[in-house]
Amino acid sequence: MVKIAPSILSADFARLLEDVRRVEEAGADYLHIDVMDGHFVPNITIGPAVVAALRPHSRLVFDVHLMIEEPDRYIDPFIQAGADLITVHAETCRHLHRTLNCIREKGGRAGVALNPATGPEVLQYLPGLFDLVLVMTVNPGFGGQAFIPQTLPKIKDLQRMIGEMGGNVEIEVDGGIGPSTVPLVVQAGAGVLVAGSAIFNAPDPATAIREIREAAQR
Ligand code: DX5
Ligand code: ZN
Repeated sequence: MVKIAPSILSADFARLLEDVRRVEEAGADYLHIDVMDGHFVPNITIGPAVVAALRPHSRLVFDVHLMIEEPDRYIDPFIQAGADLITVHAETCRHLHRTLNCIREKGGRAGVALNPATGPEVLQYLPGLFDLVLVMTVNPGFGGQAFIPQTLPKIKDLQRMIGEMGGNVEIEVDGGIGPSTVPLVVQAGAGVLVAGSAIFNAPDPATAIREIREAAQR
């Protein structure tokens, strides 16, 4: 069964906890938290204080997606705030091996995100050092963008590569994910589906989650 990770980027920030509770009750698996610094990506969003504020109110796995330069500086603050999984962009890590080790040493699960133009080969010599690969299916920075179909062969290549490496690594997809794109990414090998606008801009987020689950079985 696929996991669903609602992205709070599209939640109502004035009613953030209400929106989190709504998706938790609807059976979401992860809470996807998009952190942007205005440098690696044009937008600025959430910091550790917001994660810490939500932590006591939710049992969801906090899936923190760091779209920031120098992510090493912020691993500790996000772990302290209650992040379970920290995903860094390969493009921002001068020493990806060290960064992944650092996330795990501090007690987090480690993820690597790949922009649409970044190939999976950056992971080739890191078997056993990461728990998740986040395939960006849009260019990072904003919610509500159109899915980039050229990312599908990469998901397939990754699934093969991860199978050869062994171990338990999840493939997560992020950007433009909704009922029409879910069958494509699931068939390609994605197991964790991030969805922002498809869930929070829907009239009823619980129905939207159900529709995504149904689409995953098509
Ligand atoms: C984009 C973020 C996504 C975003 C997805 O840079 O990483 O998590 O919230 O939004 P949708 O699902 O609307 O494409
Ligand atoms: Zn994201």
